[in-house]
Amino acid sequence: MRRALRLTLPLGLALFLLATLAVGRARGGDAVPHTTDAEAGRRHILETPYVPPALDQEVADNLWRVWTEPLRSQAEALDAEARRALVFRHYGLDPRPDDASAHPLQMVVTPEGAWHMSCFTCHGGHVAGQVLPGLPNAHLALQSLVDDVAKTKRLLGRKLAPGDLAASFLPFGETVGTTNAVVFSISLLRLRDEDLNVVPPKGIPRLPHHDLDAPPWWHLKRRKHLYIDGFAKPNHRALMQFLLVPQNGRDAVLAAEDDFRDIEAYVRSIEAPRWPFAVDAEKAARGRIVFEAACADCHGTYGEGGSYPEKLVPIDVIGTDRVRLDALTVDDRTTYSTSWLTEYDPSGVRTDPGGYVAPPLDGIWASAPYFHNGSAPTLWHVLHPEQRPAAWRRDPVLYDEQRVGLRVEEAAAPPATQSPDERRRWFDTTKRGKSAAGHDFPAALDETQRSDLLEYLKTL
Ligand code: HEC
Ligand code: HEC
Repeated sequence: MRRALRLTLPLGLALFLLATLAVGRARGGDAVPHTTDAEAGRRHILETPYVPPALDQEVADNLWRVWTEPLRSQAEALDAEARRALVFRHYGLDPRPDDASAHPLQMVVTPEGAWHMSCFTCHGGHVAGQVLPGLPNAHLALQSLVDDVAKTKRLLGRKLAPGDLAASFLPFGETVGTTNAVVFSISLLRLRDEDLNVVPPKGIPRLPHHDLDAPPWWHLKRRKHLYIDGFAKPNHRALMQFLLVPQNGRDAVLAAEDDFRDIEAYVRSIEAPRWPFAVDAEKAARGRIVFEAACADCHGTYGEGGSYPEKLVPIDVIGTDRVRLDALTVDDRTTYSTSWLTEYDPSGVRTDPGGYVAPPLDGIWASAPYFHNGSAPTLWHVLHPEQRPAAWRRDPVLYDEQRVGLRVEEAAAPPATQSPDERRRWFDTTKRGKSAAGHDFPAALDETQRSDLLEYLKTL
């Protein structure tokens, strides 16, 4: 029954939305000369709403009322400012750096008080006490936020919007810090033809739900192909998939194209953050030698004259979770490759990548958890494949300086009885798409080599 609902509701909703749209049909999209401006791109992400609002100020101010105890009473006892800080922490929102507004980095808040999701929802967050745009948001509790928005609206006696309903059949992300982003794209692309016209969905949707950890934005300038399987070409249009909700007709997407040229320039301008703590330079120098012998073939070299090979590693060699690779079929990738999103140029798109790309490791200390599904909480766990925990839960604030990454509690399994929100705070590696296996290369190193290597990784 639940399964049937998952399959039929998106179709129903899509058709309903289609019926409310004036659907124009057109071809093309001429390249408009435009001088890119990274600062304008940053402002667009912070200020321009590209998708319908997810909530508004009244809902935001009342979210805590639908929490379970004892959290609800804790929130009730606080003054407005402390309560807002607790609400931010609960959902993985951060105050904007160098900005006096009380708005979160992760949302566009309009003068009317509407809150819209933005790129920073998933691509902005905090680490070791710093808030960094472009950092994957390792603390985002998106599904809990969307659930609580619907509950809060009911509590306030308000009507639900179509977006509030979407969450009940399209999971947004089953584990904190990760999202079902690829299935969002598959679902949205299914509602477009190759020229971006909104069309009725073709066939019964195949929705292989699985959660991904977003990559850091400072990688983009190093890469010739996008995404963990390196299947797509980087261009501003690839970044516009986020806009393809059916409420944005073709013209609305085309009208945003210059903004996205600037947004791409902004993403490319972001630099990796430096390790903010002490480093043992001698140990790191020994670690560099280990790295260059055991890791550099795939991950490249760093510092002066560094080079990045963008090596695509077959899935059987890398051995990490394969759900993400299989989620996009050759057909999905082929449809993408000949569409407006690639400027109708399929060259450079890999329709059958067969594995994952070894990512650049610049600023790797900051972007925990690791692997494309976020299954390894620290670099120490990456380097100790035999000791990766079956289940773990992150601290929302604290950083693990020793093991380099998230401060976590480990367990053989998550506790049995929990609310959905509590359950999502545990990473359960036995669940589909969440395996922490693979990337066993460090197992060939002895403990001293691994410890030196960890010191070196801090310096990248
Ligand atoms: C719901 C969360 C979410 C939102 C919102 C989102 N992204 Fe992403 N983004 C992801 C995930 C997850 C990936 C990794 C996908 C993969 O590898 O298959 C990704 C990948 C990327 C990449 C590829 C980087 C690389 O190294 O391969 C870029 C660039 C990017 N996103 C930019 C953007 C921009 C710009 C926006 C806003 C217009 C945006 N994203 C909105 C989650 C999100
Ligand atoms: C044969 C190629 C190969 C070798 C050798 C290799 N890696 Fe990797 N590495 C990969 C691939 C591919 C991934 C992405 C796996 C995934 O996300 O599923 C990866 C992921 C990682 C990550 C996580 C990156 C992130 O952003 O989540 C780290 C850290 C890492 N490798 C470090 C190392 C170190 C240190 C060594 C040397 C001991 C090493 N790797 C050796 C291919 C390799």
